[in-house]
Amino acid sequence: MTKQFMMEQFDKLKRDIEDALQMVTEGNALEQLRIEFLGRKGKIADLMKEMAALTEDQRKVAGKAANEVKAAVEAAFLKKQDALGQQEASGRAEKEWIDITEPGAWPKEGHLHPVSTAIVEIADLFSDIGFTRVRAPEIDWDYYAFESLNMPPDHPARDDWETFFVAQTNAQAATGAKGRIVLTPHTSNSQVREMEKGKLPIRMININRTYRRQSDITHVPMFHQFEGLMIDKGITIAHLKGVLDYFAQQYFGKDRKIRLRPHHFRFTEPSFEVDVSCGTCGGTGANCRVCKSGWLELGGAGMVHPNVLKAGGLDPEVYTGFAFGWGVERTLMMREGMRVDDIRLLYRNDLRFVQQF
Ligand code: FA5
Repeated sequence: MTKQFMMEQFDKLKRDIEDALQMVTEGNALEQLRIEFLGRKGKIADLMKEMAALTEDQRKVAGKAANEVKAAVEAAFLKKQDALGQQEASGRAEKEWIDITEPGAWPKEGHLHPVSTAIVEIADLFSDIGFTRVRAPEIDWDYYAFESLNMPPDHPARDDWETFFVAQTNAQAATGAKGRIVLTPHTSNSQVREMEKGKLPIRMININRTYRRQSDITHVPMFHQFEGLMIDKGITIAHLKGVLDYFAQQYFGKDRKIRLRPHHFRFTEPSFEVDVSCGTCGGTGANCRVCKSGWLELGGAGMVHPNVLKAGGLDPEVYTGFAFGWGVERTLMMREGMRVDDIRLLYRNDLRFVQQF
């Protein structure tokens, strides 16, 4: 081993390193290379160990040259590391660049059930003509559901409401009870409750769940009704007709009309069934599968019975009013384009059905 040979070895190593550095394109490979050449057991360290075989003078000269080579190599590594760092940073910026002006990716959105949408629409339409949405209990005393509505206990008219009664203990049925407790079979329980608040005039709309022991293609055991009530001095059937016409035209379309047919309810006098002209045949009824007569039945209405006004603490000589109560599901199904031939479909929780709306 001569000094000359040693120096050549260092020079060769320097060239090898420079060549290897040229080929490196990323941080991990650079680190491997650093360990291979500059590590404690690396090639430079090996070569330096071999200097032990030189004489002391030779070692001084060769050692100085070796340190210079080592320093140059270290500097070359740092330079490469820097270059790679910059390259990676700009590559990452390129890769991770986000165009904040692009429209975002929206998560898949659901929508309200058609019955819920109908409830919102109905409430809005009545709100536009000054009817305030109120809420009467969905489980209520017999008194509000029947008795205060001019239907005394055991009156046969009650049968029409096929009511679910809630089982009560004797203690619950004791003093203070206003009869038994029922799942409200109609929203008319809100009438006397609203009058009892003592704020007149009344212009309310109560939309709520109602229950009856019924299930077939036009009936479900749980359905929704909306109850309108207007009470003031001088309210007539003309006001009732005007409000119903307004609703029919806003909800079903400009060409639709309302018809009042005489009927009987214990809590209104006179009472009517309300029909809306059929949107499918334009009200002619000619060969129409939907209506057969040109008209579709919406629900009940009438002028509030004097006994009901009295039950609500109002003087029927001073105040008059009208009320109406319709099924939300049936009203929804009468809309043009809603071809639902079985009301129970609305509550089957079948997404294939619900997603059509
Ligand atoms: C009543 O419930 C009266 N309270 C309506 C009323 C209010 C009259 C105020 C006068 C003054 P009726 O039982 O006809 O009336 O029911 C009204 C509407 O509720 C029906 O026309 C129908 O649209 C809906 N309906 C009744 N039973 C069911 C049921 N099981 N499933 C779905 N909708 C129903």
